Parts: sequence; structure tokens; C-alpha cells
Amino acid sequence: MKKNKNSNLENFWMPFTANRIFKQNPRLLVKAEGMFYTSEDGRKILDGISGMWCCNAGHCHPHIVKAVQDQIAEMDYATAFNMAHPSVFKLANKISQLTPDSLNKIFFANSGSEAVDTALKIALAYHASNGESDRTKFISREKGYHGVNFGGTSVGGILNNRINFGPLFEKGNCLSSTWNLEEMAFSKGQPDWGDHLATELEEILLSNGPSNVAAVILEPIVGSGGVIVPPKGYLELIKEICTKYNVLLIFDEVITGFGRVGEAFASKRFGICPDIITMAKGLTNASVPMSAVAVDNSIYNQIVNNSKENIELFHGYTYSGHPVAAAAAIASLEVYEKEDLFNKSKEIEDKFEEAVHSLKGENTIVDIRNFGLMAAIHFSSDITSATDKANSIFQYCYENDVLVRFSGDYIVLSPALIAKEEHIDKIVHTIREGLRNL
Ligand SMILES: Cc1ncc(COP(=O)(O)O)c(C=O)c1O
Repeated sequence: MKKNKNSNLENFWMPFTANRIFKQNPRLLVKAEGMFYTSEDGRKILDGISGMWCCNAGHCHPHIVKAVQDQIAEMDYATAFNMAHPSVFKLANKISQLTPDSLNKIFFANSGSEAVDTALKIALAYHASNGESDRTKFISREKGYHGVNFGGTSVGGILNNRINFGPLFEKGNCLSSTWNLEEMAFSKGQPDWGDHLATELEEILLSNGPSNVAAVILEPIVGSGGVIVPPKGYLELIKEICTKYNVLLIFDEVITGFGRVGEAFASKRFGICPDIITMAKGLTNASVPMSAVAVDNSIYNQIVNNSKENIELFHGYTYSGHPVAAAAAIASLEVYEKEDLFNKSKEIEDKFEEAVHSLKGENTIVDIRNFGLMAAIHFSSDITSATDKANSIFQYCYENDVLVRFSGDYIVLSPALIAKEEHIDKIVHTIREGLRNL
């Protein structure tokens, strides 16, 4: 592979990256359009992960690009503290048409991590406003990923993301991961086994004292932790137990929002209505950073109508509702609607499922999991560790013009909602070749 022309790669401290290894053999992307990136050495690379689960309408969609260009030329910035611009209200209305039931109040932030911390703070503020300020604990789940700020790290269930960062803040215990190789390997979609694991929630609540618990936060489908799909009936039980003990349910839909699972949100696909939803990524098709938190009307009303202060929630970001991000988000939602992309995603998910599961039986694969346009292909360790194998497959695919994502012992796929059969075939074919070359 041709070496990159930049002489100095030393000063960018790359996030979640093996900096020393990367800088010896960098992979630089310089252009993007639709399903493809162009690498610095001029190759067209099929994007099997839509950026990082985020460019749901494909890259550089002209309608989104134009909206961003127009907005930045018209007004670059306006604060949302005591001022605002009209488009942010329009965007909040549009989002509230996509969220389930009465989750109509929308708070803006800039990243998934900020959305999570905002959601946790809103849950605390809600209980405090209700005279239950002892409700300060959060219950989350093993393998969950909720971003990297202190709140999200505290409720995160991936060990490497927590070590070296001190005590973090107090949380209740974690629910067990629902992934069980013996019981559910190679399940297509939702596994039949495992709904009983939700009953752990009641035990955890009782051992913490339910009146000390503010909320349960879960990804409806675990994303970064390896596309772990909820067993049939599991989320229903979680919701039932939360309701029984007046504990809020937060769904972190940073990955599962905006068509990834064939609906605007996984909550809708599964028919489970949480109290709060976090979203980011597909909100602007990843063109400009923005995230949001959708909150049930009753939570907003409780906090806002009962506040003794003029300002009801002492929380917000300089860039909450940034005009350029708002323009990008409105344009993205228009594209999703006009091009019917949530349905397109649903139409191709069977093909996607069949293609990824066709890898069953290949060298070293111990599990394949999928739902909507998300999948993980999980490796076993022998003399080579599963993590090294995942890394090798990622590198092989990259060298052969396909971008997949490796993470722990598995690779993940999350193509854009515009993916065609030939794209899916090429992605799976390249992985197969990579496996045969291991
Ligand atoms: C479920 C979930 N929550 C939160 C985040 C954090 O988002 P960000 O990286 O934008 O801070 C992510 C990122 O992948 C995520 O998958």
C-alpha cells in the first residue's frame, strides 16, 4: 500500500485507536460519496459501516450538503440560551413526530455522550422535582456502551472503557448481558432464549431499594458491545418492572435510531415505549455533530411546571441546537422521508441477514448476530486471539476495498440504508476471502 504523503502524523492523538500501530501504516480517507469512500491512495472503498453507524443516507447527500452550505452562509451561529433561531423549533417538532407516543420534548446536545449525560441528569432532576431526591442510582447492563463522558462511562458496561478513570459515580448493579453462546449462537434476529434474564432487574431493584434508583439505561440492541439483540419478550419485561417501581426507562438509541432497524427508532420496532430516548449519529446523517434527547411530556411538565427558579433546568451546551447542525438534521430527516429510507432499510434486511449468515461454517466463526441493518461476526481464539483475527479481517477488507469495523472479538457491519444487494454481496464476499486467508 502506498504510504501517505503527510510527513507528520505525530500530533493528532487518535481516539479509541492504537496510535503507535496506526501511525506506522496509516489508513487515510479523503473523499466520500454514497456508499463509497476514496482512500488517500486513490482507491474506492465500499463503506460497510456507514461511517460509524451514522451516515444512514449514504455519504455527502446533495440535499444535506446544500442545506449546510446555505445555513452557514446565512447565519453561522446563534445561542439557544435565552435566544434561538426558528429552525431549531422546526427540528424539535419534526423529531417529535418520529418518536413514540408522548416523547415530544426535545433537548439538543452535540454528541451521543452528551445526550446520555443529559438524559441521566434529566432523570435525576425529575425525581428531585417529585420530592424523591434519593433516587440517584442508575442500573445499566454488561457490555452496554453509553459514550465516554463521566455519566456515560459510569453506566457503561465495557470494562476497558472504565479502568484507569477512578471511581466514577455511583451506580446500581449491572444487568447481565443477554448474550449466551450455548443458548443462542447463530440466532437470526431476536433469540428465543433469554427473556428470563430481565427478571434480574427486579432483584437488583429490591437489593438497592427501588426508591434509591432513578433510571434503567439500556441500548435496546447493544451496538458497540457486539450487536446483542434482545431476546424475545426481554424488553417487555424490563419495561413492566420499571413501571412497577416508578423507575424511568432510558433507551440509548444513538445507534438504533433513524432507520437502522427499519423504523425511526428501535422502540417503535419493538413496540416498547421508554420514558427517555437518546439519539445522535443518523440525526444529521453525521454531516455535522448533533445529538438530542427526547423526553416524555410528563417529565418535562413535572420539571418545568414545578420549578421554583425561572430557569427550570440548569443544563445546556454552547452549541445546543446549533443552526448549522439543525439545518443538517432537518435536511437529513427530509431525505429519510422523501426517499422512504426507513422502509428501504426494512426491505433489504432479509437479504442482509441471509448474506451474513451464509458465513456460518467458515473458519473460526462462533456466532453471527443481526437485526435490521446491524450485524456482528464473532470469532474464537486459538493460537491467535479472536481480537487479532478481527483486526486481521478488518485490515484484509480495507486492503481489498471494503470497510468493516473491528471491535473486541468480532467485526460489525452497519451499511447505509441505501445499500443494494450487490454492496452486501461484496462486503460478505470480501469477509469470506479474508477468513480463508487467515
Ligand atoms: C449507544 C451509544 N451511546 C452513546 C454513544 C456515544 O456517542 P458519541 O461517540 O457521539 O459521543 C455511542 C457511540 O457510538 C453509542 O453507540
